Amino acid sequence: MKRVLFLALGLLVSLSISAKEGMWLPHLIAQLNYSEMQRMGLQISAEEIYSVNQSSLKDAIVHFNGGCTGELISDKGLLLTNHHCGLGQIQSHSTDENNYVVDGFWAQSMAEELPNQNLYAAIIQEIRDVTNDVLMGTTAEMPAEKRDSIIRSNGGMLLAKMREAYPELDFELKDFFYGNQYLLISKKIFNDVRLVGAPPKSIGKYGADTDNWMWPRHTGDFSLFRVYANADNKPADYSAENQPYQPAKHLKINIGGIEEGDFTMVYGFPGSTQQYLPSAEVANIVNDINPFRISVRDRILAIWDNKMRRDSSTQLSYVSKFARVSNSWKRWKGEILGVERTNALEVLKAEEKLFVQTCKAIPELQKDQNLVSELTDLYNKRKPIALERYAYIEVGYLGIEAFRHVLGYSKLLELAEAEDEAALKEEAERLAKRLKGFKADYDFDLDWRVAVNILPIYLEMIKTEVGEEVSELQALKHEKQIKEIRELFDEAPYFEEDFIEDLLDDPERMAKKIADDDMYELSLEMYTHFLTVLNARYRDYNLEIDALQARYVNALQRAFPKKPFYPDANSTLRVAYGRVASYQARDAVKYESQTYLEGVMEKYVPGDYEFDLPQKLIDLYERKDYGPYGQDGKLPVCFVATNHTTGGNSGSPVLNAKGELIGLNFDRAWDGVMSDMYFDPSICRNVMVDLRYVLFIIDKFGGASYLVDEMDLVTTRPDSIMEKSDAQVPETIGM
Ligand code: ARG
Ligand code: GLU
Repeated sequence: MKRVLFLALGLLVSLSISAKEGMWLPHLIAQLNYSEMQRMGLQISAEEIYSVNQSSLKDAIVHFNGGCTGELISDKGLLLTNHHCGLGQIQSHSTDENNYVVDGFWAQSMAEELPNQNLYAAIIQEIRDVTNDVLMGTTAEMPAEKRDSIIRSNGGMLLAKMREAYPELDFELKDFFYGNQYLLISKKIFNDVRLVGAPPKSIGKYGADTDNWMWPRHTGDFSLFRVYANADNKPADYSAENQPYQPAKHLKINIGGIEEGDFTMVYGFPGSTQQYLPSAEVANIVNDINPFRISVRDRILAIWDNKMRRDSSTQLSYVSKFARVSNSWKRWKGEILGVERTNALEVLKAEEKLFVQTCKAIPELQKDQNLVSELTDLYNKRKPIALERYAYIEVGYLGIEAFRHVLGYSKLLELAEAEDEAALKEEAERLAKRLKGFKADYDFDLDWRVAVNILPIYLEMIKTEVGEEVSELQALKHEKQIKEIRELFDEAPYFEEDFIEDLLDDPERMAKKIADDDMYELSLEMYTHFLTVLNARYRDYNLEIDALQARYVNALQRAFPKKPFYPDANSTLRVAYGRVASYQARDAVKYESQTYLEGVMEKYVPGDYEFDLPQKLIDLYERKDYGPYGQDGKLPVCFVATNHTTGGNSGSPVLNAKGELIGLNFDRAWDGVMSDMYFDPSICRNVMVDLRYVLFIIDKFGGASYLVDEMDLVTTRPDSIMEKSDAQVPETIGM
């Protein structure tokens, strides 16, 4: 009885809030979300958020190099994004004398702004539904392959037509809801984007990996760039003659302060989510896949960390590798906890039950009533292959650095075989350069330790038929395996002093040597097995799974026609909305929604590589010299809200009820990172830097007040018209 009541309550909670979760398509907001957003406090029109006929907020949102978001904050193309999004560029301009990563960088004038190769900013022009054009001539019953080829050819023709008609624009065709909907997205791509400013990493990356995914947070995770255009204000490659881009819209910045319960909205490019998985696959992820991947990375990170803490040169060369490997590792752990804590599997199962019942009750949906169990079956069948696949990815590809490196020699071996001398020489030169780059931040001693610790995990996990090298190793006792693995490293030629010289001198001889190298043979065999067995079977399952998922999300929408649905994130422009909100993480642990400079000081550990602080910041703190950015004698630093975000939303603007910039998104809080699969507003929070901290750092710390002069500041909060109570009242959405 208790259990039934509990389930019913869980269902009520999850359905009642479901409209506030979601990453919504901006061109559908007027239709799907606007009235709710208004009820929550939004004070601007849907047209002001997204319009193709007039300038709107979307014209100020930038896809930053495809992986992050940024926003335009002045009429001179000034672009704000995260420090961790701009770090590659900041690093690329750094030298031992001018180390912008350590000391920060502030261009004193436009002439000092630093151009970047391979960096672009894309601004969306229009999002258009082309589902009918793309699906023309297809039927649901038709064989998947035939259907795919018609879709590909329709799409190709459409793209070609648009590209010819609008040569100054870029076009992208994207599928949504597993191919139930197709959108054509046009954009302008700017390739001249220059570095303008960045705080030192002791501010921009304060707390580093220890604080990553955590709340409370105290990181000034921002950097500044500027978009340049040609004399006609159009996208152009870098040229000294280019002018600052004048955007159709730039964001105003509100420093009037925020309060618990305030409406917020995040406008950006979330990368990928899986919101429509059956509960069984969520269970597979949190019970099997995540724990397995975590267990491999536990070992890698422990080995790296141990040496990094003792040896400063290892620390330098492994700091960004560590950040990369630990980022997902930590998120996976959070996902497991979040799913447990919110009882997500039970809630999802109850929702599935409701779906099945609804299907049974509606004649047109009766044929769909088994979709969940069919999907469950397929995912469960795929699981052993998925685990083997991750075993290769985590161990053979991401884990053992040398194993991935040696795969790069296969072309050299082919050219040697083909006796193509000129090409062979060229390839040897390329490889020599590549190896130099590899060795610059490679620690042989760490890598063999990693290998002896994780290769046995791979050997144990692989059950599908393998080649000779792997099966020989599999047959050995553990101690023997370790000895063999150690020998692979001792005998590999790549780490010998003269290897690069020999490679350049006599590529043919070295190609022979590599062909005989046991590490090369083993790594190549593992990679080939991955491609031809694991990935191939995984792809076969996915074809079936995707076709069923497409039917499932389609059936869900027909079963619950009053409930608005949002497509999984796929690096397209989205809007999420919510409120500034504290949260109860677990029994007796309640988190406030705002942090202050006091908290930065509390975490300060002089000399530590994660928690050191610049003296100038400490001085400003001691003088309480916060300028217009402080509030009641304190300086706000970060805050959290209930917006549904994911990777790719880094650098996204967080806007208030009037569409003014108040925060810069950069993370999510640990307790709620399962939101990629299951969003629960009681603990899912996005983490933002308060714009007042950003401006304080630019102005008071960086002394770059001329940049603030470029911006439009608003100093009063929007009048509060929202009913704060509606956060508590369950809304009925008809599911
Ligand atoms: N967790 C954030 C994101 O997913 C920040 C990552 C960068 N920082 C780090 N310490 N690894 O991208
Ligand atoms: N740090 C993430 C990014 O780089 C955003 C955090 C998240 O996954 O929500 O996009």
